[in-house]
Amino acid sequence: MSTRTKVFKVTPTNLSEVIRECAEIIQRGGTVAIPTETVYGLAANALDPIAVNRIFHAKGRPADNPLIVHVASAEQLEQLVSEIPPKALSLIETFWPGPLTLILKRTRIVPDITTGGLNTVAVRMPADIIAQELIRLSGKPLAAPSANISGRPSPTTAFHVLHDLEGKIDAVIDAGNTCIGVESTVIDMSGEKPAVLRPGYISATQIEEVIGEAEIGYSDHVTEAEGIVRSPGMKYTHYSPSATLLLLEGSHDLVLNKIREMYADFTCRGARVGLLVTSSDLFSLTNDMVYLGRKDEPEEVARNLFLGLRSLDEKGVNIILADGSFTQEGVGAAVMNRLRKASEMIIKV
Ligand code: TXA
Ligand code: MG
Repeated sequence: MSTRTKVFKVTPTNLSEVIRECAEIIQRGGTVAIPTETVYGLAANALDPIAVNRIFHAKGRPADNPLIVHVASAEQLEQLVSEIPPKALSLIETFWPGPLTLILKRTRIVPDITTGGLNTVAVRMPADIIAQELIRLSGKPLAAPSANISGRPSPTTAFHVLHDLEGKIDAVIDAGNTCIGVESTVIDMSGEKPAVLRPGYISATQIEEVIGEAEIGYSDHVTEAEGIVRSPGMKYTHYSPSATLLLLEGSHDLVLNKIREMYADFTCRGARVGLLVTSSDLFSLTNDMVYLGRKDEPEEVARNLFLGLRSLDEKGVNIILADGSFTQEGVGAAVMNRLRKASEMIIKV
């Protein structure tokens, strides 16, 4: 395993050199954390079981949680999947390259370890140019889950990647903050009916505009005990900061009042309380606060979400009061999904 993680900071002049060095690491069976438009991913050759095992090992990821395979061309896709149904093709034509992952029936070229033993494989073509070039130059499809320790918030900066994985991976490409901030939408196109298995940047509405009805195959509250979990990853604890997160849902004004009240209550009992909010009105309360963005701008909130969770942890708060009153239109649904999964308790006000 790696003992030192090489950090490649991208500048306008060294990009091709960085990609060349990282492609060599991939070809040797190593692991490289890469930027994508959503979050940083931990990449390795998807077709090399030993390389893929290094990903699982570095993240401490359960073996039954399959990985997304990233491609840069139609040829690579065709190598991995046994069929592309017409609706899947329409989605690919509309949303690729971009933050949409499709589950399709796999070919035997894909190792069991990559798919957690399933007969399907998750595929996506990232829009990020660095990710695309690395796939092209290495000549391999890249398995890449989010580059965090399993269960922690996904990384949106190289600093977060190093915080979790320094010394456990061969390299990281530091290209600054990712644009979107939450992971891709996952849709199962391998069965009779399309089903959204994870909400992401591309909304169910946008998908239905292209292919007609799609089932919602996830719950924000799924636990193992609830039975059928179609996407293995959705049953595990997710996105959790070290602090206890309490999520407040309801109308904006009521949520703000409740946050003020709970802040006073916990603070007076000696807790250090952090706030994750969509209103600058609360600035006066504390410095342990992260402003997620305007409540009607879910893209802003998405971009700042994981960053916010991690920065409150770094400040050392014990409790996070999170504002769940922003719009759930578009990527707002994905933000709410991640917050609910990160929360210890949901409080309706
Ligand atoms: O935006 C993203 O999707 C990022 C970037 C790096 O591309 N990747 C990412 O990967 O979020 P990961 O491993 O953290 O999440 C992949 C999700 C998991 O919930 C996993 O269970 C599900 O996709 N998944 C993968 N293969 C699957 C399959 N064959 N069937 C059902 N679900 C699958
Ligand atoms: Mg993940």
